[in-house]
Amino acid sequence: MSNDLHNPRPESPVNDVFRAIYARRSVRDYLPNNVPDDMILELIRAGTYAPSAANKQPWRFVVIKDRELIKKLSDKSKELWIELEAKASKPELIALANMVSRPGFNIFFNAPVLIMIFSHPDAFSPQIDCSLAAENMMLAAQSQKMGSCWIGLGAPLGQVRAIMDDLGVPSECKLVGCLIFGYPVKLDQKAPRREENVILNWIA
Ligand SMILES: Cc1cc2nc3c(=O)[nH]c(=O)nc-3n(C[C@H](O)[C@H](O)[C@H](O)COP(=O)(O)O)c2cc1C
Repeated sequence: MSNDLHNPRPESPVNDVFRAIYARRSVRDYLPNNVPDDMILELIRAGTYAPSAANKQPWRFVVIKDRELIKKLSDKSKELWIELEAKASKPELIALANMVSRPGFNIFFNAPVLIMIFSHPDAFSPQIDCSLAAENMMLAAQSQKMGSCWIGLGAPLGQVRAIMDDLGVPSECKLVGCLIFGYPVKLDQKAPRREENVILNWIA
């Protein structure tokens, strides 16, 4: 058996699912084109077909297409990171604060759609379940030649009750992730290098 993970043999079983997995990239440059609502709904439906512990399906979604609001949320999140850095002054936070404080930097990369994923409290493993839903959505987007990116920089927004109230999020729901979607300026982006030595052991 070849153990060259990233140079598969010609007979490797690569079909459309594998192709979407290998082609998906975090996209940070979007065309201004809107994403049709039917497409957004289908992405969410794909998310809901993820596995979840004890089939709790704890994912809840907020869809934001209002570009002004997306920009406002980016500005607020940047502010929160800068505040966090001022309090903690850890080197990695300083680097992050420097990055986000660049004028004109939009943490959501001017994408036309932001989907925030929240977990319902009735869940055994809310983060895992919602992350699985997120990956389904990003792969489904890839299959439609759309781009996506998980934006961890949006995480502090979940701590601000007033924002959550404005977004119609009940207090028991917790923000797990922010995903952006849209049509990429550039298709077929090259993947960042993948780690080679990921198989710890192979016991036959
Ligand atoms: C939990 C999580 C948080 C992330 N946060 C950000 C982010 O805030 N901004 C960003 O540009 N990319 C973010 N990414 C995307 C990663 O940088 C990206 O997945 C990684 O570089 C590998 O590239 P690929 O997705 O194209 O394979 C995040 C990814 C994950 C899984």
